[in-house]
Amino acid sequence: MRRATFLDLPPLRTVGGTVQLPGSKSISNRILLLAALSEGSTEVRDLLDSDDTHVMLEALRQLGCIIEPLSARALRITGLGGRTAHAPDASPALTRLFLGNAGTAMRPLTAALALMGGEFELSGVPRMHERPIGDLVDALSALGCRIHYLGTPGFPPLRIAHGGGVPPLRLDAPVLVRGDVSSQFLTALLMALPLVAQTRDVVIEVVGELISKPYIEITLALLARFGIRWQREGWQRFTITAGSRYQSPGVAHVEADASSASYFIAAGAIAACPEGQNGLEIRGVGLNSIQGDIRFIEAARAMGAQVTGGDNSLHVRRGAWPLKAITLDCNHIPDAAMTLAAMALYADGTTELTNIASWRVKETDRIAAMVAELTKLGATCEAGNDFLRVTPPASNAHWRAASIHTYDDHRMAMCLSLAAFNPARLPVRIEDPGCVAKTYPGYFDALFQVAQADPEDIPVICIDGPTASGKGTLAAEVAARLGYHLLDSGALYRLTALAAGTAGLALDAPREDALARLAATLPVRFLPECILLDGRDVTQAIRTEEVGMQASQVSQLPRVRAALVALQHGFRRLPGLVADGRDMGTVIFPQAPLKVYLTASSQCRAERRHKQLISKGITTTIATLRADLEARDARDMQRSAAPLKPAEDALLLDSSELTIDETVARVLQWWQARRPFSA
Ligand code: DC
Repeated sequence: MRRATFLDLPPLRTVGGTVQLPGSKSISNRILLLAALSEGSTEVRDLLDSDDTHVMLEALRQLGCIIEPLSARALRITGLGGRTAHAPDASPALTRLFLGNAGTAMRPLTAALALMGGEFELSGVPRMHERPIGDLVDALSALGCRIHYLGTPGFPPLRIAHGGGVPPLRLDAPVLVRGDVSSQFLTALLMALPLVAQTRDVVIEVVGELISKPYIEITLALLARFGIRWQREGWQRFTITAGSRYQSPGVAHVEADASSASYFIAAGAIAACPEGQNGLEIRGVGLNSIQGDIRFIEAARAMGAQVTGGDNSLHVRRGAWPLKAITLDCNHIPDAAMTLAAMALYADGTTELTNIASWRVKETDRIAAMVAELTKLGATCEAGNDFLRVTPPASNAHWRAASIHTYDDHRMAMCLSLAAFNPARLPVRIEDPGCVAKTYPGYFDALFQVAQADPEDIPVICIDGPTASGKGTLAAEVAARLGYHLLDSGALYRLTALAAGTAGLALDAPREDALARLAATLPVRFLPECILLDGRDVTQAIRTEEVGMQASQVSQLPRVRAALVALQHGFRRLPGLVADGRDMGTVIFPQAPLKVYLTASSQCRAERRHKQLISKGITTTIATLRADLEARDARDMQRSAAPLKPAEDALLLDSSELTIDETVARVLQWWQARRPFSA
């Protein structure tokens, strides 16, 4: 599927209800690797389903792990017990691992594979090749491992050259590793060195100040769960106890991502609660999480959020408003601190985040990226190598409708989506919204479930046209490209006709009231892949010519039309709607900012329909089809209820000479021209 180029968020007003968070990326990839290194098999529950876990799973499969899905929320990994598929003495074959942009796969796999033996090449996307790994390679090389850079020294791609077996390792002296660039280097060593600690203690010493300590705490907590004994002296010296061996705990549960929780904690602090509701409940992570980013809560509270919680859930409400500006050393919450930068847009002064140098070597240079995007929104930013100061827009008039560049960085996309709560009620465009798949593929759906907008702020594009003009295809494609919902209003008349048939109701005027009652209470559910009527899949059944004719009959009854109005209005949901059908722009959504009337010559429409029918094995002639279409146009234009005619403010689009792609491009161009975003 084509990845959407942007997603427009309408201005959001309130937040309430319940959100279930996905599993943590950091915990997911650590548990996957630990299960892979263990003896025995591990059932992993609530694993995050994301780009970074996919590359890890694929790498583990290539290395010889057996991975079996158990259910939608669980899989079983049978571990290698410290051996790779290519045991050194068996085959020197080269295994190439592609690790995308997953630092949580690249760093620990490099260390583990270097200690297991075999020939490996580890590479990733171009950004991965700009993310440092030199300190880890230096530590492993000092031990005696043979690792070569295949591109720029100090960065992936790498080659581990242990085809003849792991060389003798120098484990008598402490393994030295720098801790001030990325804590993932230490994590990688902590997870790999138990493989060579059978007979002696292995000591790691951190050189320089260790950053992101909470991630080390996650690593240590998980090592213990997989049978490894360790001690630490402060944050400088770590000892893996001799005789440590990876043992599967049987079942390993992945906690939800505390960094993902931060977007909803922030939303709950920024937005008022809908009337009659009591704040926002966040499920999957609680106050006792092993993740350091849970301490984001303290910072959010300092800014004004009211947060309470239990073991596996949190509850947020708006407290102080506007939020209070803070100055905070963020070393303990490197990822979640980005969310504070977005909250700073709503504060009563300048917020200063310090000790964030690690932002510069993440998915993108996050300090530079934040400055650029917050500035576009109207904030004033100042930054240095390791700090960021954000002053919110001075008044509503200073906010800008910005198109937010996301730098292939999931956190940029999720943080900046919070700008949609702006008091100026401007929409926000998020470029490349699919980048959230790195840790939270369902993020925007979750946001739209708990956030509410004023209905008039939710955009609607209406598309109408004569039969066989291709409006259905156009509407579906435009909706897909914009990430909007789709209302195929003809389907509602088809469903009413089908339901009337089942109920034994004739489709004529004397039955109008009964038909209207039926239409008002249609037991219909629109699922992504099918339409259910009273629990029955009727996706195909409503598409027959016969049901089409019956739909045309019921659609001429004014009370049936009136009965379907509320159902149709209900399709106007976040983030937007493309509505296809007769009276969309005239009756149902008369205020829609874009109305398109799609036409094509009757000859052209007849030829298209002919092609369609031939492909279904139905024989007919173009001339007959053309005569039918013209007769139907005439009937449709003359009927009294909802006659076929363009809305007065509709833009006419003649597709006779255009391909579907060209038609879609034209409509998207019109839409772009109506949007307020500066480039
Ligand atoms: O677009 P379609 O073929 O699925 O529509 C079925 C019938 O319903 C067709 O006769 C047009 C009519 N219709 C209508 O009257 N009003 C709408 N909004 C949509 C369809």
